[in-house]
Amino acid sequence: MDNTNFGVGIIGTGSYVPDKILTNKDLEKIVDTSDEWITSRTGIKERRILDKDKSTSYMAEKAAKKAIESSGLNREDIDMIIVTTVTPDMAFPSTACIVQEKLGLKNAAAFDLEAACTGFIYGLSVGYSFIKSGLYENILIISADSLSKITDWEDRNTCVLFGDGAGAAVLSKVKDGRGLLSIDIGADGGGGELLTQPAGGSLKPASIDTVKNKLHYIKMEGNSVFKFAVKIMVDSSRKVMRKVGMNIDDINYLIPHQANMRIIESASKRLKIDSDKVCLNLDKYGNMSSSSIPVALDEAVRDGKIKENDNVLLVGFGGGLTWGATLIKW
Ligand SMILES: CC(C)(COP(=O)(O)OP(=O)(O)OC[C@H]1O[C@@H](n2cnc3c(N)ncnc32)[C@H](O)[C@@H]1OP(=O)(O)O)[C@@H](O)C(=O)NCCC(=O)NCCS
Repeated sequence: MDNTNFGVGIIGTGSYVPDKILTNKDLEKIVDTSDEWITSRTGIKERRILDKDKSTSYMAEKAAKKAIESSGLNREDIDMIIVTTVTPDMAFPSTACIVQEKLGLKNAAAFDLEAACTGFIYGLSVGYSFIKSGLYENILIISADSLSKITDWEDRNTCVLFGDGAGAAVLSKVKDGRGLLSIDIGADGGGGELLTQPAGGSLKPASIDTVKNKLHYIKMEGNSVFKFAVKIMVDSSRKVMRKVGMNIDDINYLIPHQANMRIIESASKRLKIDSDKVCLNLDKYGNMSSSSIPVALDEAVRDGKIKENDNVLLVGFGGGLTWGATLIKW
């Protein structure tokens, strides 16, 4: 393959979720909520919670190991690691550097990318560009988040929604006409306040006041995010299909960001995609931020659902606000 006549595709996937399960019934004992409310308003039944003494890099390492194994590459072949997360182990070093050391990926450049729940799509698009340009060959994208660590467990508006997990993919050269056929990523900084963790950065460094005022937790305007999510999932999905002259009947599987079943159903209805083509794991894991899409992708691949030549549409949205979609010929 020369430098232009090739595609860029996913040649290996992996995922990891912690063992500890927190059910809706468990949450009934913590906040004023009910299994009925959570199930009917979100579709979530349970979520996974990372142990207190473990961090995001722990899950990232486990998912990445499986992705490298399934790619058939050796560790020395990985020349870049991109970790997408809003819950890095610490501000610096980057979680990507921590994972590089843990996995012994000595030949890899490593950095974190923050695009909230859209991180995996952003990561794929950055990786795609590096490989297409000829600068790098085999890029490990890891999306890992432990939102339980920044969740206010006294706020029923948010604590029922989130869970912990990690998904990973190895991007590499594939045959022309295969792999990522089109990409759309976008942002609207004007909506930043709808979904935010206000303190802990340079604007409001950690202090007794920020802790007292609970500013290190996720703050969200649920209704506004909901409306934005439905619209942008439809728009971005249509855009990537249009770019390659496909329509919804050409899509074998849709893997949406898993935030709320009602968001997914509304978007699917507008897109006119059959529900059996939509890959879901929201009921088991809740919203795992940027990990939701790659975990669902890995499960669909390992279950034998996604087959060679299938057209797979990934679409996500999140804080920033950000969004993105990509259409992959598997
Ligand atoms: C958060 C979300 C589930 C709320 O669902 P909703 O149907 O919009 O519910 P509302 O916000 O209108 O709240 C309705 C009522 O339920 C209550 N409520 C909120 N959370 C509750 C809970 N866990 N249990 C019981 N009641 C709850 C509210 O207090 C409100 O009560 P009120 O009418 O007395 O004020 C929904 O807006 C959502 O999923 N938004 C998108 C969030 C998202 O995707 N975020 C991540 C993006 S990456």
